[in-house]
Amino acid sequence: MAILNADRWLDRLGFLDPLAEAYQKQVAAWLTRGGAGARAAKDVLNGTWLGHPLHPALTDLPLGAWSGSMLLDLVGEEVAADLLLGLGCVAGTAAAAAGLADWQDSYGQERRVGAAHGLLNLAALGAMASALVLRRAGRRGWARPLALGGYGLAAASGYLGGHLVFRFGTQVNRNAFVEGPSEWQVAGDEKLVVEGALVASQVGATRILLTRVDGRLCALSNVCSHAGGPLAEGDLAQGVVRCPWHGSRFDVRTGAVVEGPATAPLPTYATRVNATGEVEVRAG
Ligand code: FES
Repeated sequence: MAILNADRWLDRLGFLDPLAEAYQKQVAAWLTRGGAGARAAKDVLNGTWLGHPLHPALTDLPLGAWSGSMLLDLVGEEVAADLLLGLGCVAGTAAAAAGLADWQDSYGQERRVGAAHGLLNLAALGAMASALVLRRAGRRGWARPLALGGYGLAAASGYLGGHLVFRFGTQVNRNAFVEGPSEWQVAGDEKLVVEGALVASQVGATRILLTRVDGRLCALSNVCSHAGGPLAEGDLAQGVVRCPWHGSRFDVRTGAVVEGPATAPLPTYATRVNATGEVEVRAG
């Protein structure tokens, strides 16, 4: 039995839901108003350019800097400790911005846990920034317990961040365990896969999207790598399919991400048409 039943505690945080919903709606309106520039900025924060979520790559920086600051403080290196404390605050601000971009597309229990995670992080950041101000003002006696409290909050928040990934699969590639058929398998009637159509199919456990671009048959995962959206219910333009859930776009010929919040490409499959006019697909 787990010594810490986090879900039981997190179930009590329902009061965060209306707040979270209002915030997300406001940000969605800003993104719409901001147009392509705002979407591009969100992609940067999501990590689409990196091919990997940016937030987890940034979170080590403030924790490492703050740990170093406390150790240096213990051995009396106060100037270096102040410097690392400040660097941690800068890195923590960047990590918070990337986390907010990811959280914008969450919902349900995942959104609730994400809200708790974010609020703890903001409290930790506030405590560390206040500790830095106190230290620079020469009031180190007050600053040390404040920084220690901030460090505890950051650790608790880190636990929730891990919970989001390992319990809810937040920002985990939804095709991570998909291998696709190793032999040629029938996926559909070729006549249905006309130019520009998005045809949902299934081969064994693999959900497949069939389409045709410039006469070329394309087969790829029908599961958006961001959060599992059904791509066949999206729309296709110039060889790029748009996810109906959060708007990620993928090139159907290569599976490459054209626009986030997705960061992982889609698996694509080889295609051929058999003697009876059926589309067959195979991994690789
Ligand atoms: S599920 Fe989020 S963009 Fe597709």
